[in-house]
Amino acid sequence: MDRNQVVIPPEQIARQREFEKKIRALLEARQRPCQALVETFGCQQNVADSQRLMGMLREMGCAFTEDPREADIIVINTCAIRENAEKRVYGTLGQLTHTKEANPQQIICLCGCMAQQERVAQKVRESYRHVDMIFGPQALWKFPELLYQVCTQHRRLFSIDDEHGTIAEGLPVVRESGVKAWVSIMYGCNNFCSYCIVPYVRGRERSRDPEEILAEVRELVAEGYRDITLLGQNVNSYGKDLPQPMDFADLLTAIDQTPGDYYVRFMTSHPKDAGEKLFDTMARCSHVAKQLHLPVQSGNSRVLHAMNRGYTREQYLEKVRYARSVMPDLVLTSDIIIGFPGETEAEAMDTISLVEEVGYDALFTFIYSPRPGTPAAKLPDPVSREEKQVWFDRLLDAQNRISAQIHAGYVGQEIRVLVDGESGDVRWPLTSRTEGGRLVHLTGDKSAIGSFVTAKIVDSNTWALFGELAEAAPQR
Ligand code: SAH
Ligand code: SF4
Ligand code: F3S
Repeated sequence: MDRNQVVIPPEQIARQREFEKKIRALLEARQRPCQALVETFGCQQNVADSQRLMGMLREMGCAFTEDPREADIIVINTCAIRENAEKRVYGTLGQLTHTKEANPQQIICLCGCMAQQERVAQKVRESYRHVDMIFGPQALWKFPELLYQVCTQHRRLFSIDDEHGTIAEGLPVVRESGVKAWVSIMYGCNNFCSYCIVPYVRGRERSRDPEEILAEVRELVAEGYRDITLLGQNVNSYGKDLPQPMDFADLLTAIDQTPGDYYVRFMTSHPKDAGEKLFDTMARCSHVAKQLHLPVQSGNSRVLHAMNRGYTREQYLEKVRYARSVMPDLVLTSDIIIGFPGETEAEAMDTISLVEEVGYDALFTFIYSPRPGTPAAKLPDPVSREEKQVWFDRLLDAQNRISAQIHAGYVGQEIRVLVDGESGDVRWPLTSRTEGGRLVHLTGDKSAIGSFVTAKIVDSNTWALFGELAEAAPQR
């Protein structure tokens, strides 16, 4: 698709700011200040999208609440990745029938990946009549206009048409902490892994202009952000669609030139496109954290082929070997699906053997969930849920042992960590992250938040490390 059709023209973006002003005027005419609630399900991409939605709501004059009974506007940003994610959203929507009964003026909006599916829109249209508006991820940038229509025309609104998707720059944003920030570098996915709904709901791959990304990173660093995560479904596809193509490694090199004391991380990297150039670049760039999330999904080449992943077990292992050869301290994590249709016990055990061979620092593990409309959902799936659960538990046992062992290896070391928040635990009041992104519960007081400090690691468990501040005065 032509780039001019993908990037929303600035006039269109400016028009949305006008709608924000109009809504602000409407809301100000009410007796009390408007309260909004944005509830987010799903991945970091959705978290980043919700920060934009909150930015737009703030421009409309809204304050934020966590209590749905107090909210005038409720936005549920949904995830469609597994059936459970969808069930939780329907549960939340069910509860909102009561808040809407108590406050018929309340406006309820459903957006995000689930909302983009016709099947869901249909169900909401018929069975969740208290929902005023549905829009997919592609329509997020015109939320003010859509909301204005709902406010003024008093009718339900469904906007889920655009299947390709666009890029909208310059939307207002509310970031939740002053330390960590998300920066989307691209949207959509073209990979069509056979189990996955994302390409159907997030549209085609679109890369933001490198200048826009660089400007955003520079601004964040200048504002004091210390930990910046670049987001994309497959960051390795970055740049293929740009008028002057550049690749993700080139983008990292350019970002790394931004001066300051910060780390930049990224997710997610698809193994089929992650190669030596990327790993060499990571190794070379001082701001790029030595952390890699490289989802393998399965350790069996037949299953990987059926998943349409585009690599074999051996090719994956070779990439890991190379990455570690240039970054010996690399922290490596992965996603795994157990129980893909037709997967045998022996094939699932191949996944466990791969996990043991790689020795990941941590894993995100899932039992396969059929997604209507994807090719895998049509495959015969003879293995029972109970049996899959047994394989899954074996995988968890293996990984828990490995994580505990790796974490124990940190004990006694002094390492540099970034203090990112409070934990609520009196013994370890602070939370912090290593360069590789591992969680360290820390002693000290909250004046250290936002600083890099040296922590002496004194204890560990399967999920985290525990440290004492080794430096009296943190340096910002
Ligand atoms: N773009 C990322 C993944 C996004 S979804 C990537 O390619 O790695 C996050 C994870 O959810 C996937 O890596 C996969 O492990 C899991 N997942 C996706 N679809 C699933 C399904 N139908 N059932 C179970 N897990 C699924
Ligand atoms: Fe889904 Fe595959 Fe795209 Fe990741 S790369 S979002 S798993 S289709
Ligand atoms: Fe879910 Fe959409 Fe992310 S389906 S995992 S919120 S891209």
